[in-house]
Amino acid sequence: MARHDGTPTKGASSEAARLDMKLVRKNMVDSTNEVAKVLVAEGAVPWTVVVAAKQLAGRGRFGRRWTSPRGGLYLSIALIEEVERLPLVTLAAGLSVAEVVEAEGIVPELKWPNDVFVEGAKIAGVLVEGLTKPPSYWGIVGFGINSNSRKEAFPRNLVGHITTLRHELGRAVDNDSLLKTLLASFRDHYPAPGREPEVVAHYRKRCTTLGRELAVETATGTVRGKALDISSAGLLVVELADGSTVEVAEGTIVQPT
Ligand code: BTN
Repeated sequence: MARHDGTPTKGASSEAARLDMKLVRKNMVDSTNEVAKVLVAEGAVPWTVVVAAKQLAGRGRFGRRWTSPRGGLYLSIALIEEVERLPLVTLAAGLSVAEVVEAEGIVPELKWPNDVFVEGAKIAGVLVEGLTKPPSYWGIVGFGINSNSRKEAFPRNLVGHITTLRHELGRAVDNDSLLKTLLASFRDHYPAPGREPEVVAHYRKRCTTLGRELAVETATGTVRGKALDISSAGLLVVELADGSTVEVAEGTIVQPT
């Protein structure tokens, strides 16, 4: 590939090598998160990145389906990470996806914890999972970006709820260059020990959830109140009607939609 001025540029493979990541490219998989887990069980090195052209059983948060037609960008990064730090890793992942979208000239809305919307329609999501069996000190960070996919490739019930970069820009985008930007941005925001406050500070500036009245669906019920802050551990701080606060570790914002 070359820049407009003819200077050669390097793609995601060389960027991965520069960042000390191992890039594994696949054509069609069930889920890149599942492939990453298998690679970890087989002795993968930390920062192994699995990228696939299509997923047959892409998964979203809370067991939802992630429709993954050809044209989208689907990848998972396998990392050694303590489970208590995964909320911070989640914030870093959301930030990097928002930056990828913004680099294409589109204004992203970063909804806690890591859903990225464009004018109310979802364009990207992140699924962070800790391994439940040994080696359980690994985390898998899965990114799904509706980049070059066509809106017609999504089920009818998603019409109006999702969008793609291709649709927003009215032209095709280069997935390899998006991947390159994403890897660099995630590495940059990654909360390495001692750098945790940085990711929280960056996230607070970008997150469009803060300051809003909302309802968050969690495993133990719905929390209603005002999104006050992001805690130093990466949790959402919500002020309830009685003035007390709760910290939400995991959930889906159902209002505002
Ligand atoms: C969500 O918004 O619910 C999260 C979506 C995460 C989708 C990505 S695509 C790559 C990786 N593999 C999966 O099966 N899921 C994640």
